Amino acid sequence: ADYRIAVIAGDGIGPEVMDEALKVLCEAEQEEGFSLEVQAFPWNSEYYLEHGRMMPEDGLDTLQTFDAILFGAIGDARVPDEVTIWELIMPIRKGFRQYVNFRPVKSLPGIPSPLANGEDIDFVIFRENAEGEYSDSGGRLYAGQEGEIAIQNTIMTRTGVERITRAACRYAEEHGLGKVTSATKSNAVIHANKLWDEHVRRIVEEEFGGLQFEQYYVDALAAYFVQRPQSFDVVLASNLFGDILSDLGSGLVGGLGLSPSGNINPEKDYPSMFEPVHGSAPDIAGQGIANPIAQIWSAALMLEHLGEKRAAGRIVKAIEDVLAEGKVKTRDIGGTATTREMGSAIGEAFKNQ
Ligand code: NAI
Ligand code: MG
Repeated sequence: ADYRIAVIAGDGIGPEVMDEALKVLCEAEQEEGFSLEVQAFPWNSEYYLEHGRMMPEDGLDTLQTFDAILFGAIGDARVPDEVTIWELIMPIRKGFRQYVNFRPVKSLPGIPSPLANGEDIDFVIFRENAEGEYSDSGGRLYAGQEGEIAIQNTIMTRTGVERITRAACRYAEEHGLGKVTSATKSNAVIHANKLWDEHVRRIVEEEFGGLQFEQYYVDALAAYFVQRPQSFDVVLASNLFGDILSDLGSGLVGGLGLSPSGNINPEKDYPSMFEPVHGSAPDIAGQGIANPIAQIWSAALMLEHLGEKRAAGRIVKAIEDVLAEGKVKTRDIGGTATTREMGSAIGEAFKNQ
């Protein structure tokens, strides 16, 4: 096979939407003439309840032999969320140095914008994915007492800030995007975010002189996302700020059912992982009504990363064609179609291009 893909469908709607993504990938293989070897791993909450861990001890070694990982979603009421996240997703993201979390924010046809001016939105978010606010450094003191304290440390390194800045700027250059916008809060978070500001600005100025650069406090930037989302090209943010901004971005263009992401190791010395922004959606799991678009689009991002740019573009076009026609819509975007009907419609649209 040209590419070996590890598939972790996960919990809840994860396996439901993953089936549709695999269907579309099969179409892409047949039409575009590359071959995928797909291997599925049952690492989810059920696995945890049976084995006491989210993946085998040598799970990362196994995954490392693949070209990419396609991930569904995890989360189950029977297992604490911090276990599912810190024992499966975080080890993969951190262990494979997937320090870029890439999220496109793009208007889709037929999806009404919640914004008054209704203009098309098209930008990308580069979220730092390996350090920052999401650290396990810290602890709790005086549990149960009046004076109880929690300390949660943010870890920002010069190397970490430099590499995410370079990744965002390179993407801007390669895609003809003129401007990079950095999210910060260095007026209040004075140690970590000042380091962020200094090194982001230095890298842009020293290495990417052709790009326009701007920096906003993240609270103001959240307002600008709503007031003038058309004014952004590439938004660069730390782990926490990027997480929140990208869900806000997702809300601007139709919601979680439509939003893909990539956890990318730009050096390609480890596999990258592609997953929808949404979680396991326990409120609708098992009903066959989840929207598979976020998962299918994530598979397209994976193909793009692997170098199959034409196939990736065709999948995104197929999603747009189905939405533009407006006949097949899942419940989250105002229709009654099932997960399978949506997946099949996108597969058909792909073939009919
Ligand atoms: P969620 O994303 O699972 O659901 C939020 C809301 O969006 C729900 O009303 C859900 O029905 C809806 N929704 C999500 N995806 C959809 C889709 N494809 N089609 C239609 N509607 C969709 O987030 P929530 O409820 O905060 O978390 C549920 C579980 O998922 C938790 O255990 C959480 O820890 C986990 N989670 C896992 C993530 C991952 O695997 N990377 C990311 C986010 C949450
Ligand atoms: Mg999030």
